[in-house]
Amino acid sequence: MTGMDSRDEIKNRVREAADIVQVIGECVELKKTGVRFTGLCPFHAEKTPSFSVNPQGQFFHCFGCGESGDVFSFMMKYHHLTFPDALKDLARRYNIDLPEPAMSDADRARMRKREQLYEANHTAAEIFHDFLQHSDAAEPARRYLVDRGVPQEIVEKYQLGYTPPPETAGWKFITSRLQSKKISMSAVEQAGLAVKKETGGYYDRFRDRVLFPIYDLSGREVAFGGRILGEGKPKYMNSPESMIFNKSRLLFGLHQHREAIRKSRRAIVVEGNFDLLLLAVHGIDNVVAPLGTALTRSHIKSLRGFCDEVVLLFDGDSAGLKAAGRSIPFFLAEQVEGKVALLPQGHDPDSLVREKGPEGIRQLIDTAKPLAEFVFSALVQEHGLTLSGKNRIMQELLPLVREASDPGQQELMIVHFSEKLGISPARFKSGVPQAKQPTGQQTTTHICSLAALPRKQRQLVDFLVLYPEFLDELQQGGLAELSCEPAVSEIIVSLQLLADDGPVTPEQLLSVLSGEQERQYIADLLMRGPEGESEDDEMQGRELCDELLNWLNSVRRQQDGAVLQKQINEAQQSGDTELMMELLRKKQELVKKNSVFTDKLLKEV
Ligand code: UTP
Ligand code: MN
Repeated sequence: MTGMDSRDEIKNRVREAADIVQVIGECVELKKTGVRFTGLCPFHAEKTPSFSVNPQGQFFHCFGCGESGDVFSFMMKYHHLTFPDALKDLARRYNIDLPEPAMSDADRARMRKREQLYEANHTAAEIFHDFLQHSDAAEPARRYLVDRGVPQEIVEKYQLGYTPPPETAGWKFITSRLQSKKISMSAVEQAGLAVKKETGGYYDRFRDRVLFPIYDLSGREVAFGGRILGEGKPKYMNSPESMIFNKSRLLFGLHQHREAIRKSRRAIVVEGNFDLLLLAVHGIDNVVAPLGTALTRSHIKSLRGFCDEVVLLFDGDSAGLKAAGRSIPFFLAEQVEGKVALLPQGHDPDSLVREKGPEGIRQLIDTAKPLAEFVFSALVQEHGLTLSGKNRIMQELLPLVREASDPGQQELMIVHFSEKLGISPARFKSGVPQAKQPTGQQTTTHICSLAALPRKQRQLVDFLVLYPEFLDELQQGGLAELSCEPAVSEIIVSLQLLADDGPVTPEQLLSVLSGEQERQYIADLLMRGPEGESEDDEMQGRELCDELLNWLNSVRRQQDGAVLQKQINEAQQSGDTELMMELLRKKQELVKKNSVFTDKLLKEV
């Protein structure tokens, strides 16, 4: 047996044993809706449930944010686990013995190393915190924090720490403490806590600084930010990147604030660590701060798991604001609304909240402008709307548009900005090379209103979406010849294409449909479930299918009748009496068979 096979096999065994409804039900309140279970999505903030769990297919899907997957992906996403950890966790719960992981020696060594780095940081965080709280030598740091308006409760909540200056504590304050706790020096160095001397030996990286532990989403210390006490350069120092710390992914405060962010559906981004602390002091805790870098797409991606709106709370000439324009495409790509709230001249969130209180901040947030609007009006202010001004603005906007990787988003930005500039999209576009069309994806232009379909066709769509397994049977029963609305045909064709790759789920259909309205209709339908609750879903599918087959049959006979009538008329006109008599006889037969059906049926098509 190869490694792959046994891995897949064990994965399948665990998946089969695990009850996805039970696993998710422990984290999300689920309600049974037809054959599915629904609830509020844990991956984005929402008030009406669009999260559905399908026990038969053993998967979940959120129609709001598009998150979906199996029991493993749920564990990974919700509990922030790696796949192996999710697997281990579920295997333990459902009593399945896992073989020893087939890890290479190198993998094992790396894993051990990572653990050592976590341990080094965790132990250091405890030492720094304890030192700040209890040591006489930390008196200046405690005073500093009090002066900056940071109370004890906040020091605790964020586990702030302090590391003393070399004049009083030497150059190996943390280094020697970690060493005496038998933590590997190379791990201490790789975690960025100590610097190796060329002459051998180590000394502390952080000295005389207030320290902010940075946590990953599992709550492990992966780095520190440090502010010097009073004046001095550099003012802030962060741990260098390491095998456990990637600063373009992590945000200070996200670990502590994710619940607040989820509840308010909004994240506020500030630039400084103290800005974040002071807002928290004043009860505003849906806040994060990047670690001295501009916002990256990964930052936005990780916020997206918790909210649908991000407000940048920046001052007018901050570096963050200058970089904000470049993040427009990231926001579009992640489908997160990006906004900007501009601080009054000379203020940062820290000083503003101390002067005006939380109300001052809330008012500012309420005036936040959409990021694209904001960038645009800043450019208008800078260049004016003269002919040459417009040209300059266009030149500055073009790189932003180019960064949008998806053609749909590019189009959106082009239309939006060209309208604002009063020039044609074509002219704007002439400076923008086309983004590549993702293969297999077409943009259809027809506007569909599934909700406005004739009743029977709507019933047909509803049925096909909920019971795609009956598609073949219906096609043979006359669906193939039925001429229907373009929106219905698109769904039938999509289902057929999907079916070529195996059993189709409604959720798959959602992912291939092009129209927003169509997707919304289907999402609503899935939440609603099949009409007329029946305990036995299979039974209900069968009944509905038979009903539709009957209807298709009658429609076909009606259509045959119409065709016959046309042929009769033609025969009559051409004077072919023999043919006419033959056709009339056929028609009579048909009418006899058909007597139960009325014209009304055809109108329902
Ligand atoms: P600012 O220089 O704007 O300072 O740095 P601040 O947050 O207002 O600092 P305080 O109020 O004087 O304490 C904003 C953020 O940029 C990063 C830090 O994360 C800081 O919080 N930064 C700043 C650095 O990484 N290195 C620096 O030297 C300065
Ligand atoms: Mn400040």
